[in-house]
Amino acid sequence: MMKTKIFIFFTSIFLIFSSNKLVPSESAGMIKYRQNVMKAAAGHMGAIVSILKNNLPIRDHILEHANSLNQISKMTISIFPKGTGLGRTKAKNSIWKNWSKFEKISQDFVDESTKLMELAKNGDIQAIAKQIRKTGKTCGSCHRNFRKRD
Ligand code: HEC
Repeated sequence: MMKTKIFIFFTSIFLIFSSNKLVPSESAGMIKYRQNVMKAAAGHMGAIVSILKNNLPIRDHILEHANSLNQISKMTISIFPKGTGLGRTKAKNSIWKNWSKFEKISQDFVDESTKLMELAKNGDIQAIAKQIRKTGKTCGSCHRNFRKRD
């Protein structure tokens, strides 16, 4: 009897660590990390908007911010692993129930920020401004569906 209990105990410990779900402490770390990554995305978007709005003489920075935004867009899917829907997070559980929809919106973010990067290389300000709005729509679309309101 005792042996069976010990066996079950160690088996469950093993299953917890070997499954692809994160244990709570890792989960909190991942949540904090993704919130920082999201803030970075907002920072790069805001930086581009500031340059455009105020016609700042650092237009070459637009491309750098667009590059960073594009890098972040490619990370988006991997900062939402299963098991990170609980705790200090605004991520809705529907992310993991509608994973393919979530993946699709992440891909839209990648596609639109890739276009933004291409346009930033050419420096057509009107086109960049338009594409910033399109990229912003992918943020909004994901938040509307998958982020809890305050
Ligand atoms: C595929 C979905 C998705 C996309 C695309 C996305 N976000 Fe998010 N974002 C989320 C989710 C979900 C949260 C909540 C994360 C949490 O609290 O764990 C979030 C949180 C945030 C936060 C709050 C971070 C914090 O401090 O808690 C900011 C700011 C943000 N996103 C900005 C952006 C911007 C700007 C873009 C586009 C350039 C963007 N996001 C694109 C899903 C997305």
